[in-house]
Amino acid sequence: MARLVRREANGPMEIKVGNSSKWICMCGLSKNQPYCDGSHRTTLDEEEGKVYVYNSDGTRTEVNG
Ligand code: FES
Repeated sequence: MARLVRREANGPMEIKVGNSSKWICMCGLSKNQPYCDGSHRTTLDEEEGKVYVYNSDGTRTEVNG
């Protein structure tokens, strides 16, 4: 089974827990959900108006949005 979920964020959201910060993945690519693992860096060169699929083998495919 597979599921496509559209995400547009390309960085994490900071959550304050007491005196420390937790960084929550908003891009959907982290392998350490719900926390950011830095995988969002692969989205930074996405072009406005285009849609991408990130494959489980680490490759990215551009699709019609
Ligand atoms: S925001 Fe998703 S990995 Fe950082």
